[in-house]
Amino acid sequence: KIANIKGLKQGKLKISTVTTVKYFLPKILGMFCQEYPGIDVSLEVLNRNRVLERLQHNQDDIYIMGVPPDTEDVSAEPFIKNTLVIIAPSGHPLAQQKNIPVSALENEPFILREQGSGTRLLVEKLFNELNLQLNVRMELGSNEAIKQAVAGGMGLSLLSKSSVNIDANQNELCILDVEGFPIKRHWYIVRLQDKEVSVLAQTFIDYLLEHVDLLDAKM
Ligand code: PGA
Repeated sequence: KIANIKGLKQGKLKISTVTTVKYFLPKILGMFCQEYPGIDVSLEVLNRNRVLERLQHNQDDIYIMGVPPDTEDVSAEPFIKNTLVIIAPSGHPLAQQKNIPVSALENEPFILREQGSGTRLLVEKLFNELNLQLNVRMELGSNEAIKQAVAGGMGLSLLSKSSVNIDANQNELCILDVEGFPIKRHWYIVRLQDKEVSVLAQTFIDYLLEHVDLLDAKM
C-alpha cells in the first residue's frame, strides 16, 4: 500500500549542489528515485558561486552546500558532517609527524580551487583566522585535479574528507595530522525562505535526513 502512495508522487525535482557533494549525494538520490519512480530528479553540480547564482534566480527546489550565504532570505539546515583535512603526497616529510603545528603550513606551497569555490573560501578564511600567509602554488578547477597535483608533489591542499576517500590513488596521498585538524563543519540543505517547499522537495529532504546514517561513516 505504501508503495502505491509513493508511486503517486509525481513531478520534477530540481537540485543543485556544490562539487564536493557529488561524492555522496548521487547514491542517496539513486535510492530515492527507486523508491519514488514518479519523481524525476535533475541534479546540477557546480561550484559555490554558481550554486548561489541559481539560488538567487530561484532556479531549483533545493540547494546543497558547505558554506551557506549569510543572508536572511535563506534558510540553511545542517544535515551531515563535512570534515576538512589537509592532504599531502605520502612521501612528504610531514607525513610521519604527529600534531604538526599550524605554523608549519606557512612554509608549504598550496594548491587551491578556483575563485568562487566554497572549498577555497574556507582555506582562505582559515589562514586568515590563523594569521598565516597562504603560499599559493597553483589554482585548479576540480578536486580530482587537485588530488592528482598533490600526489605529483606540487604542494598541499585542504579538501573535504568525502572527496579524498574516493579513488584508488589514495595510497599516493595522506592526511596530515595538523594541530586543530580535522576541521568539523556540516553540509547544509539551503532554500529560499519565502519559497514554499513543494511536496516533492519536502519528500526528498525527509528522505535525506532519514538516510544520512548510511553515509555518515565516510564523512
Ligand atoms: P565548492 O564547494 O565545490 O564550491 O568548493 C564546497 C563547499 O561549499 O564547501
